[in-house]
Amino acid sequence: MSKPDSNVLIAESEIQRRVGELAAQISADYAGKGELVLVGVLKGAFIFLADLSRRLTIPRVVEFIAVSSYESGSASSGAVRLVMDMRESIEGKHVLVVEDIVDSGHTMHYLMEMLNTRGAASVRACALLQKSGCAKVDVNIDYLGFHIADEWVVGYGLDYAEQDRTLPDIRVIQPED
Ligand code: PRP
Repeated sequence: MSKPDSNVLIAESEIQRRVGELAAQISADYAGKGELVLVGVLKGAFIFLADLSRRLTIPRVVEFIAVSSYESGSASSGAVRLVMDMRESIEGKHVLVVEDIVDSGHTMHYLMEMLNTRGAASVRACALLQKSGCAKVDVNIDYLGFHIADEWVVGYGLDYAEQDRTLPDIRVIQPED
C-alpha cells in the first residue's frame, strides 16, 4: 500500500532499464562457464531476483537463503545469523548472491564469507541498491544497480514494517510516518 506522501526515487522504467543492463553484463561475464546459481536473500530480493533471472541468457538456477540481523531500531548491530539455508550444494558452482539493498554491508559480508567456505568455483555479489556512506564493513558489490543516499526506501521488494514491498518503483518514506 503506498502512502500519499511517498516520493518516487527511482521510477519503474529506470529500474527495468538498469535490471536489463545488469542482466546483459552478468550474461556476458558468465557465458560459457556453466550453470550460474543465483542466491536470492529473502525477503527483499524476491522481486529483483525474479526480474533479473528472467533476463539472463545463460543457464541458471535459483536458490533462496534467509538471514536475520539482531537489530536495535533500524540500525543493524552487525550480528547476522542464517535462518534458512538453500537446498542444493554449491560446491564447484559459480554463485551470485542477489540482494535488494546493501546498507551497513554486514549481511553481504556475512554471506560472502559463509558461501566462500563451501567450495564454490566463485562467489560474487549483486545488489540493486547500495546506500552511500553507510558501510560499516567493506564489501565489494560486483554488480550494482544504483547508489542511493541514506534514506529509508520502499518498493520493488523493500519494505517498511512489511508494507510497500510490491510497489513497482522505489520510494523514499519517513519511517516515523
Ligand atoms: C535488508 C536487505 C539486506 C540487509 C542489508 O534486509 O534486504 O538483507 O537489510 O542491510 P545491511 O547491509 O546493513 O546488512 P532486512 O533485514 O530489512 O530483511 P528483509 O529483506 O526481509 O526485508
